[in-house]
Amino acid sequence: MRSLIGINDFSVEELDTLMETAIDIIADPKKYSEKCKGKKLATLFFEPSTRTRLSFEAAMYELGGSVLGFSEPNSSSAVKGESVADTAKILSCYADILVMRHFKEGAPYVASRNATVPVINAGDGGHNHPTQTLADLLTIYRCKGRLNDLTIGYCGDLKYGRTVHSLISALSRYTGIKTVLIAPEKLTLPSYIRQDVLEKKGMPYKQVSSLEEAMGEIDVLYMTRLQRERFANDDEYECLKNSFILTPDKLKDAKKDMCILHPLPRVNEISVAVDDDPRAKYFEQALNGKYMRMALILKLLKEAEENSEREEEPQYRDDLRCDNFRCVTATEQELQHKFVLTDEENGVYRCLYCESKAR
Ligand code: NCD
Repeated sequence: MRSLIGINDFSVEELDTLMETAIDIIADPKKYSEKCKGKKLATLFFEPSTRTRLSFEAAMYELGGSVLGFSEPNSSSAVKGESVADTAKILSCYADILVMRHFKEGAPYVASRNATVPVINAGDGGHNHPTQTLADLLTIYRCKGRLNDLTIGYCGDLKYGRTVHSLISALSRYTGIKTVLIAPEKLTLPSYIRQDVLEKKGMPYKQVSSLEEAMGEIDVLYMTRLQRERFANDDEYECLKNSFILTPDKLKDAKKDMCILHPLPRVNEISVAVDDDPRAKYFEQALNGKYMRMALILKLLKEAEENSEREEEPQYRDDLRCDNFRCVTATEQELQHKFVLTDEENGVYRCLYCESKAR
């Protein structure tokens, strides 16, 4: 039985097939309108969401299935102290597939180890957001006709922006990808992406301090909002919130066929005046998200029917402790700490749940 916890749980071929299915759904939605008849999808949202949750709901309804769940933790047994593992076991009794968003990094992984149905990570803290990546990939593919040989500029909160982490990981498996990082100094990429993905895979990247500096070479500009809810204090947010704002003026040196993406919600980082620019694709991106989620639900339900065995865990050691307070191990007291060797050459071990480096 497969789950989708990190984007690299799927091979490039599987991502391509998902995109093909999504494109087929767009062409002939009727063909799919009863594919999930009698199936239930549960949404377990411990953090706010509009697009992700509602696009999963819309996706399941358009497949003829039904939806149950909660959209904020206060209405679930988590407030009574229920563990992620127990919640996953219980919800498996009521639904055929679970979608979880959680503020703790690694929580959906824990759910997938305990559920008896597939689990989809709909965002875990500042860590990963693989289904947003599915939307991003389809949008890039539909705009540019390819996922290879592209220069991608990421702008904004690259530290806590989980959508950026997942998209960089996904694109690391395509060829000819150049990366430009545009972020305030305090909000640069975490090391599990910079070292373990960009550097380890030898992907060319550079950091620049203004949008204008790199605008002319970028094929896809990926804007993000500052993740205010993950900042240690509001003063820090206030200082940084106006760091990068995309305005029509800043686009004057941009390529004519560049595409501008944003996972949304936007706060102030893209001026509304940019919306009329034909290069602005962020609303299409939200729609593409629904089609990719339809394709994903179909795939995971089909695979679960064929094989209900949970996949094996990677080899780990249990004699190290994770000290990341955002990690699911920080609140789930009985959870075993597990570390996997991610860089043999340098002997780097990372937490299996949140990917923090062992100290
Ligand atoms: C993103 C998220 O939740 O990480 N939103 C989304 O899912 N579309 C981006 C964000 O909240 O900034």
